[in-house]
Amino acid sequence: MPQTTNPDVIQMLKAAAEDEHAALIQYLRHAYMMGEGELACEIEAIAREEMRHFWILSRWMVRLGGQPTTQRGFTDVSGATPPEWMQRDVAAEERAIAMYESYLTRIADPDLRADIEHILADERRHHGDFAHFVDKTALAIQQTPASAAPVEPAPGLPAADQDALNWGVNHEYAAILQYLVHSFLTMDKDEEISSQLMTQAINEMQHMGWFGEELVGSGAELPLTHHPLTLPADPQAMLEADVQLENETAAMYGQFIAQMTDPGAKGVIEDARGQELYHENLFGRLLKRLKPVTSPAAAPTTKVWTVGTLKRKA
Ligand SMILES: [Fe+2]
Ligand SMILES: [Fe+2]
Ligand SMILES: [Fe+2]
Ligand SMILES: [Fe+2]
Repeated sequence: MPQTTNPDVIQMLKAAAEDEHAALIQYLRHAYMMGEGELACEIEAIAREEMRHFWILSRWMVRLGGQPTTQRGFTDVSGATPPEWMQRDVAAEERAIAMYESYLTRIADPDLRADIEHILADERRHHGDFAHFVDKTALAIQQTPASAAPVEPAPGLPAADQDALNWGVNHEYAAILQYLVHSFLTMDKDEEISSQLMTQAINEMQHMGWFGEELVGSGAELPLTHHPLTLPADPQAMLEADVQLENETAAMYGQFIAQMTDPGAKGVIEDARGQELYHENLFGRLLKRLKPVTSPAAAPTTKVWTVGTLKRKA
């Protein structure tokens, strides 16, 4: 095996993380464009696996001394019909498989190889799934009777509702990335914090799905950009930024709700707002885990159970 230096490996991991990010967004976009249904759910499940790959690769990158990346690799937004979208996803998996196979000829570290082999096995399965989805969607088109009524163009949303959903997608996309990066950066410091951040990143992905489906269902395009990210190195600063982001977002959603009139769009913004308030509270609690008790006056007054008190209760 040729000698591959640490900077080479970091560069390879960076390229892979950017491609995983691209696959996540490309597949989510296709899932929302499919509308509600079993196939959309299956595609979203694959997108979640790409999110996990992004996490694994990014963690390796940081462990080897690299910087996390939130750049997105090539995202294929071409294609006009479901079989064409699924062909783009087959092609994305082919690119990923070729990349990871070439990495395995150059990487010697057994632990990193094991993680890449695990990711490669997922990509091969995704490839088979998307090839199957090409056939399935093509068959569905063939079976649509020629006499079927042409699909009416979707009625557009009122401007205030569309603005809210666009802003919401930009925000949720940023929240997904910010919490994922904070999650792998806090892994060695506090596993509870790290796993909660990962869980909430998945929750933000659901919000993006609600908004994305409303937008695409009304004939609009899904925005593919995100709001700026706050990525400090220190866990306390990360959680403070996350609390602030949730607080500002809940306030912003509240302002949008007062202007919105479409029941579907308003309903999803209201649901997301409720969950953002929960996130704010949760991140506040996680922040307390990190803050050291500095003086006796600030010490927690939590009741301490002793064997004696438990005995008396029994
Ligand atoms: Fe992947
Ligand atoms: Fe994949
Ligand atoms: Fe959200
Ligand atoms: Fe949130």
